Amino acid sequence: MDKIVVHGGARLEGELRVNGAKNAALLIQCAALLTSGKTTLRHVPQLSDVRTMSRLLERLGCAVEGDRTLAIDAAGVGDGPCEAPYDLVKTMRASVTVMGPLLARYGRTKVSLPGGCAIGARPIDQHLKGLEALGANIELSHGYVNLEAERLHGAAFVFDTVTVGGTQNVMMAATLAKGTTRLENVAREPEVQELATVLNKMGAQIRGAGTSVIEIEGVDELVGVDHAILPDRIEAGTIAVGAAITGGEVLLLDAPVDHMHSLIGKLEDAGVQCVVEPEGLRVYGPDQIEPVDVVTRPHPGFPTDMQAQFMVLASVAKGRSMVTETIFENRFMHVPELQRMGADMHISGNTVVIRGVDRLSGATVMATDLRASASLVLAGLVAEGETEIRRVYHLDRGYESIEERLRGLGANIERVSGARM
Ligand code: EPZ
Repeated sequence: MDKIVVHGGARLEGELRVNGAKNAALLIQCAALLTSGKTTLRHVPQLSDVRTMSRLLERLGCAVEGDRTLAIDAAGVGDGPCEAPYDLVKTMRASVTVMGPLLARYGRTKVSLPGGCAIGARPIDQHLKGLEALGANIELSHGYVNLEAERLHGAAFVFDTVTVGGTQNVMMAATLAKGTTRLENVAREPEVQELATVLNKMGAQIRGAGTSVIEIEGVDELVGVDHAILPDRIEAGTIAVGAAITGGEVLLLDAPVDHMHSLIGKLEDAGVQCVVEPEGLRVYGPDQIEPVDVVTRPHPGFPTDMQAQFMVLASVAKGRSMVTETIFENRFMHVPELQRMGADMHISGNTVVIRGVDRLSGATVMATDLRASASLVLAGLVAEGETEIRRVYHLDRGYESIEERLRGLGANIERVSGARM
């Protein structure tokens, strides 16, 4: 199993081009199932999650070719069982978002229930309620959901809770339903907007993505498209925190600034200078980080996927900060690991109170989930001595060759492959 070893102290300096967004790529891969044609995706990030989704599409009968540019041909899907098996769904929950497209296009699908997750229970009740409102017959058995519908019909549906995946699943299903669908209390994340943009390029009729109400006029058919994936606001944000805490200066080329306002606002509150330039976002790390309070919210609020990284920023700030997590009930697994590195932080309910320390100290730590592992890499960049991060397969799910990209900015970091743990 690989591990990553970081020696702290180097300032991050230079330019980095932000990669395509994981959470957009995965959903657009699913959207390819809505067409019988070929869909070509560009700027695809080289991530294990994207490869898992490609494997699932192949299991469903798609032909998938390429890597940075991915060609997906869904012509062969209908002949197969339209089933998303447990062995794939358990490795990546986003697999459940094949449900809407398969049901809408083929009138039937069988998808494994995802089970629990490190950061929370993460049920899919809203996905199922939304698809039921569009006329799906749903039956749960033996750990699977079986969905059937001769043809879905338009409907009005209000989500009980704002869910990114639920919005995307039901929105995709509604594109081929008979009639008009009105979805309320939907997620407004940029990845929802990006999916709607691609679906409309495929011939769908979606209005309102990015607001809390989305309307979809069902059509009979969608066609394949060629689309370049938008840059990843979370990868950009993670590197921005790295520049901030190391007192560095980094230009994030293609950073999707319009999708990062809450993040940039909090960086500036912490004394970090962020300058929007024609090519992207330039981040200057200050001599002293100011304490900052953060509460995670659905977009356009502060993203939960940046919570762990911001805890590292607060852990070396001059003063007390509070970080409150409102989206997932168990997203503090990085706290005990950061405490091992000398961070002064304490969990109290869904809030962590953090008193900044002068310097963290390097230690051997364990990655527990994707963003938690990113926070451990960031902490290693500013810690005294060596930090060894284990279970980095979590990191590879959402960051492409992060050690090489950070080394390109001057970090002293390496991956040790196949290390005996
Ligand atoms: C997406 O997950 C992202 N994943 C997550 O990013 C991100 O943290 C999350 O949205 C929130 O922004 C992808 O896009 C692949 P949700 P998703 O449904 O869709 C509850 C990362 O690090 N809920 O918006 O699974 C749920 O339990 C990942 O890249 C229900 O109760 O998140 C949670 O508390 C991690 N019932 C809340 O809603 C449902 O049917 C938000 O979950 C669905 C969700």
